[in-house]
Amino acid sequence: MSAENTSKLPPGPQTRLPLGHLFSFRRDSIGFLKKIANEYGDIVHFKMGPIRIVLLNHPDFIKEVLTTQHHNFIKGRPLEMAKQLLGEGLLTSEGEFHKRQSRIIQPAFHRNMLESYVPAMTRCVAQMMNKWEDGMKVDMKDEMTKISTAIAGMTLFNADIEQEAPEIIQALDTATSLFGRISLPFSEWLLKVPVPGTLKFYRAKKRLDEIIHRMINERRRNKMDNGDLISLLLRSQNGKVDGGGMSDQQIRDEAITLFLTAFDTTSTALTWTWYLLSQNPEAELELHEELDRVLNGRLPTVEDPGQLKYTRMVFGESMRIYPPSYVIPRQALEDFTIDKYIVPRGTIILMSPYLIHHDSRFYTDPEKFNPYAWEKHSHGQNSKYEYFPFSRGPRSCIGEPFAWIQGIVVLASIAQFWRIKLVPGHPVELLPLINLRPKHGMMMTLHRRK
Ligand code: HEM
Repeated sequence: MSAENTSKLPPGPQTRLPLGHLFSFRRDSIGFLKKIANEYGDIVHFKMGPIRIVLLNHPDFIKEVLTTQHHNFIKGRPLEMAKQLLGEGLLTSEGEFHKRQSRIIQPAFHRNMLESYVPAMTRCVAQMMNKWEDGMKVDMKDEMTKISTAIAGMTLFNADIEQEAPEIIQALDTATSLFGRISLPFSEWLLKVPVPGTLKFYRAKKRLDEIIHRMINERRRNKMDNGDLISLLLRSQNGKVDGGGMSDQQIRDEAITLFLTAFDTTSTALTWTWYLLSQNPEAELELHEELDRVLNGRLPTVEDPGQLKYTRMVFGESMRIYPPSYVIPRQALEDFTIDKYIVPRGTIILMSPYLIHHDSRFYTDPEKFNPYAWEKHSHGQNSKYEYFPFSRGPRSCIGEPFAWIQGIVVLASIAQFWRIKLVPGHPVELLPLINLRPKHGMMMTLHRRK
């Protein structure tokens, strides 16, 4: 008997269209997921072409997949596309290989390493602010992308990539927007067809590879080992870590994975934070008061992120309202039971931090930006799977501590000296690609604080 016959599938929308709900999902993925959760409940089944998908919309069920039954789930098919760019890096690899890579890379995120990154972070922000003028209009999405790229280059690779930054950003943008345009079922075919989008993707990938290889070769030449990411990768290649032996290709895969995961998510989170502050002057005022009291006109140092409690709350609440990774996918290895249903192996599972973070069952006033409510909630007993912008369980974000420090340091450094206001009339809409970006960028005016 096939898995289909033995399974007891959850309810969900039916369609006779050959591609199933592909187009509804492509048109407005968040709207579609919200709608089916409202209509069918916390476990919903739907199809896109031949692919079976189950949406889980309750923290208890999400916990089952991300933690309790995690052995039964892989990143699987939804990450196949990402493999085209990232290869077998930490984000996309599975099993023992992933565990080994994770062990090698983990020390780059230890507390003392993170603290050593703070001066580089403030240096990058100071360089950016030097170019700003009172009354200037900027796209904060671009500014945050530039700063996050510079910080990732400086901290993880010890490389000043200011020269190459525009090219890197463009290449990554080309690569990630192709991911966004390709939906689940037929992505692998599209990459084999030489249409302009695909050719652009391969060109962008080639250029990124050249830049990453240059950074690696430079580090090999100057033989510096300061314990940062690239040192750890090279050390492991020399066989000094964990039995040794990463190939050049593996080093490239890990380096590009860390680079991409670091800069895109953090820049998105920071962009939304500036937007939310500009819409919530009381929170902005309270942030300024904290910064004036704790920093009093100087840039933050290693000791400060721990003191800047309100700044932390602002960044945390911003990732509640706009979680950069708005949907987290998995694929089931075997049939599994969830609540009263049996879901067949191979099914794609979707869990959306965006939907959960905006659910009035878990948040009193979910649309309101309220850093204090977030603080209270984040210490609550059941908060773990109600707030999961970094995912949860063994495959959650390895860079989470890095992201918190960068978020706090960048916010504190800038908000000390600048008020940033949305340009009146600038449209703000969601663009859920790989990350939840602002569709039209974020045009804002810089006002120097007196
Ligand atoms: C606000 C910033 C960030 C957010 C919201 C974020 C979010 C996430 C999420 C949701 C996942 C898990 C995906 C899953 O469960 O399938 C993830 C994984 C990952 N993140 Fe982040 N991330 C952020 C920053 C960073 C930074 C700064 C780095 C590196 C310096 C990083 C590196 C990674 C890596 C390597 C993985 C794969 C981990 C694994 O599968 O073992 N992230 N991130």
